[in-house]
Amino acid sequence: MTSKSIILAGGAGYIGSHIAALMLARDIDIIIIDNFANSSPVVFDRLERITGRRPKLIEADLASAQGAATVLDELRPHDIWGAVHLAGLKAVGESVEQPSRYYDVNINTTLNLINILDQLNATKLVFSSSASVYGAENKSPVSEEGVLSAANPYGSTKILNERLLADHARARSKWQVINLRYFNPVGAHPSGLIGEDPTGIPNNLFPYIAQVAVGRRPHVSVFGGDYDTPDGTGIRDYIHVDDLALGHLAAVDYLTNQNRGDVMPINLGSGHGHSVLEVISAFSRAAGKHIPIELVDRRPGDVAMSFANPSRAEKLLGWAATRSLDEMCRDHWRWQSGNRDGYRAAESNSE
Ligand code: UFG
Repeated sequence: MTSKSIILAGGAGYIGSHIAALMLARDIDIIIIDNFANSSPVVFDRLERITGRRPKLIEADLASAQGAATVLDELRPHDIWGAVHLAGLKAVGESVEQPSRYYDVNINTTLNLINILDQLNATKLVFSSSASVYGAENKSPVSEEGVLSAANPYGSTKILNERLLADHARARSKWQVINLRYFNPVGAHPSGLIGEDPTGIPNNLFPYIAQVAVGRRPHVSVFGGDYDTPDGTGIRDYIHVDDLALGHLAAVDYLTNQNRGDVMPINLGSGHGHSVLEVISAFSRAAGKHIPIELVDRRPGDVAMSFANPSRAEKLLGWAATRSLDEMCRDHWRWQSGNRDGYRAAESNSE
């Protein structure tokens, strides 16, 4: 692993905070850049409680020219390895309603980060991409050769960012990029101190189930019971956020030991799928609670089945997901039951 500082852009968010916990525990020097648009400063207290170390923070909006200038100034004294880039907007439904905002924030953040790294002579970047880059026509398991075509503006910004980074890497011979295509990240750190804290009504299955189990919502709507799957409900490749974080560490390691310029997409998924009903009963077991459901129509844009072919990650990064669905549910529940309203209570009484 590197002795230089690694930038975690968007490092206070759900996935970034789990990567930060892992890196701090391994004595890796990190600098988090975040504007707390969809994250909480309480994460820093929690990271300190988990690891005994508090990461450096640069609070700035990387999408703006002014924010990027501040970041560059603050980073200049440091010896920078490169960045793990997780900064951006990520709500699929919101991206359909506000496409120009999604393009503006998600593309400008990457453009500014590229420019900052160029100014600092740093050439390594791990990008937080998504399985949403794969068009619905791909058959699961989906490999990195799958056809790219996004069903919504959020997915389009992931495809555009991958292309932007690939073009930049080709133009600068030393640049090395890994585009990590996440399947469905869920779960939380086993300490129960950090986890997913969505604002408003959750769009995704796990946080929705968790909020029903904790009594914040009456029931889970199951979107479609007539898919061509064994129990009729949708199948997805859920991956524990700590497995995902380990995948980022493996990607950083890979780039650290590699001097040749390169750009590569890599799937991070388990290679197995679970149905909506399987997830609900596993969560119910973990929480020891009945979870009421209501079967409703399919959600527009959803496919019956999506899971990864993760063999490239295994071959190149020596990485594979190891945590089971039961562990995902247990850890997600520990976080949600200990933090009913996410970070909100801790925000009002400083820890
Ligand atoms: N589902 C329900 N009820 C809910 C929420 C979801 O039945 O309240 C179902 C969906 O129909 C789907 C499954 O649960 O079958 C998973 O849905 P999620 O919304 O949790 O996840 P998606 O697979 O739709 O999308 C996720 C992320 C995207 C990312 C994509 C990558 O939300 O950001 O995975 O494949 F792009």
